[in-house]
Amino acid sequence: MGQTNLVKQNQSGRHLTYNTIQAANSEIHQGNLVLINRENPIRQSISSSRLLPLSSIPSIHTLRDGMLLEQTCLRQLADLLEACQGINDIIAVSGYRTKWEQEQIYASTLAERGAEYTARYVAWPDRSEHQTGLAIDVGKLNKNVDFIAPAFPDTEVYKSFKGLAASFGFIQRYKEGKEAITHISCEPWHFRYIGYPHAEIMERNDWCLEEYIDQLKNYPFEKEHLVFEDEHSFVQIYYAAADAGAVTTIPLVPCDRYHLSGNNRDGFIVTACLDKGR
Ligand code: DAL
Ligand code: ZN
Repeated sequence: MGQTNLVKQNQSGRHLTYNTIQAANSEIHQGNLVLINRENPIRQSISSSRLLPLSSIPSIHTLRDGMLLEQTCLRQLADLLEACQGINDIIAVSGYRTKWEQEQIYASTLAERGAEYTARYVAWPDRSEHQTGLAIDVGKLNKNVDFIAPAFPDTEVYKSFKGLAASFGFIQRYKEGKEAITHISCEPWHFRYIGYPHAEIMERNDWCLEEYIDQLKNYPFEKEHLVFEDEHSFVQIYYAAADAGAVTTIPLVPCDRYHLSGNNRDGFIVTACLDKGR
């Protein structure tokens, strides 16, 4: 990724200069907003340098040793557990999975629980968000925790976790009422890190990730951007279709910091933040 300038003419004929981001088109398949589902498989594995062991935060209970998560996702999970005071009641059940692990989980669930159950709760290999390191299954800390479908009640500390999740960048990925779009049954335990304020915007509009990724295409750089404001910052979000060839040039609005993510389909999403009170 690099930066150059782009000169554009506005309606009054004046030339405006924008910084631009140069993104390799292979980066469409990377970033917090990648859409992974039946129609949009994983195309690029996460680099192992971005995975951290949950044991690096010893206060988090884990079902198995050696669990890994993408580093920002893990940091935000730890902060969310602290904010909802859930550290003693919530267990991390499943985080990053390799393709091989997803194949094993798929095969053993099929053998033990049958085809209908497996289709509802287990994604095909390369169609599981767990392979991105950005998905975490959480459960009620108990003697018996179900690895595939852990209990995660809608009460007490679990309800607080769910209520605060969006402000830490997490969404409940598979909700009731969205099964026809996600092709997965409601999973109260599966949270996906997509970052703030995206999670907050999705929550407010009741959009699942498939719907949000579609919505974002209505906000290209040339048109009105999706705008989000809170007490700390003013955020502009817009979509850039991938250019033909190997590299896409993406205009960047003036901002203090930005985040770029691919959508794992056909383009990029820019999240540009201006900090308030500076
Ligand atoms: N349980 C989710 C759908 C997965 O297997 O990734
Ligand atoms: Zn899961």
